[in-house]
Amino acid sequence: MSHAPLENDRFLRALRRQPVDRTPVWLMRQAGRYLPEYRATRARAGSFLGMAKNPEIACEVTLQPLARFDLDAAILFSDILTIPDAMGLGLYFAEGEGPKFERPVRDAASIAALSVPDMETELRYVMDAVRLIRRELRGKVPLIGFSGSPWTLACYMVEGGGSKDFARIKAMALNEPAALHTLLKVNTDAVIAYLAAQRAAGAQALQVFDTWGGVLSPAMYREFSLPYLSRIARELPRGEGDQRAPLILFGKGNAAHLEALADSGTEAVGVDWLVELGEAARRTGGKVALQGNLDPAVLYGSPDAIRVQARAALDNYRDGNGGSREGHVFNLGHGMSPDMNPEHVAVLVEEVHTYSAR
Ligand code: CP3
Repeated sequence: MSHAPLENDRFLRALRRQPVDRTPVWLMRQAGRYLPEYRATRARAGSFLGMAKNPEIACEVTLQPLARFDLDAAILFSDILTIPDAMGLGLYFAEGEGPKFERPVRDAASIAALSVPDMETELRYVMDAVRLIRRELRGKVPLIGFSGSPWTLACYMVEGGGSKDFARIKAMALNEPAALHTLLKVNTDAVIAYLAAQRAAGAQALQVFDTWGGVLSPAMYREFSLPYLSRIARELPRGEGDQRAPLILFGKGNAAHLEALADSGTEAVGVDWLVELGEAARRTGGKVALQGNLDPAVLYGSPDAIRVQARAALDNYRDGNGGSREGHVFNLGHGMSPDMNPEHVAVLVEEVHTYSAR
């Protein structure tokens, strides 16, 4: 892997809380069905999993939003459910129903049978995609690798797919907590190995998606999600100095836990729109960078409304951060949706850059 300097490193600098010329911006799910070129590639490839498992196509789709918008980072095109798929659960996507597993894990025996997949065989397609994307990016912007959190992966593995009430996994937490902790432990070992392998393949920052941490009561979060996120923050090897790949712990509904997350050893915390950035900045006191947090639905507003909301988020962060915009990575509070207008994304990215210029 070459270490040629990046053309645009403001995303990595902001994650290290170093000064930048303008606030960097990328968007969760920036590659996806809202882009006509994505839909065309998907029609050619046949399916989402067919795209994710083909490094050339994953690379092509990763680069699509960067060709249109002045984004400050690329994110690997893949999915969080690659790990349980490689553990043998049989991931598939039922049309219009989201992800599902053929063999969910619902008892202590099937949990005990799980092991950490080999990163350069079972998950080689992910590492090949990372290597190819790094090469094709040619140092334009940094590449983000990612994983699901141990808890969020466990939700899909136990429920067998998406869920509204998380009845099965919450019953397991109450009735068989030791079995659930065994599952969370193997998931944590796998996440650490997976992120370390993505970094070795060329990923320059790493994000953990704790999409479902917010469905837990604070006490259950402190038992079943936070300790495993903290272990990742402590144990994930990520290099030194300006070669260090910063870690971002994103969580939906993590507002109650910002102080604990800031003390975990992570470089950055991603937040959704239910907490104000200024409050998050005050409560984390400069220990971490913050990423977020526009309500994705703002993209349904008019261009003028989008500009007003972007400025408000930038200023809210600055006001809570002692008058400085440093340490902020602009993003949505969650992923984009297929019915969003690409022209509105261009407006948002442009406004973040021009309004925050310094
Ligand atoms: O941000 C990016 O652009 C990178 C790519 C990315 C995808 N999934 C692509 C994808 C990332 C980071 C993910 C993570 C992911 N996958 C999460 C955590 C992020 C979050 O939203 O909180 C979760 C929970 C999943 C599981 C998953 N995969 C779901 C719920 C779905 C949506 C199913 C649907 O029909 O909408 C997927 C499929 C998926 N992953 C798509 C994309 C672009 C849609 C694929 C398609 O149908 O073409």
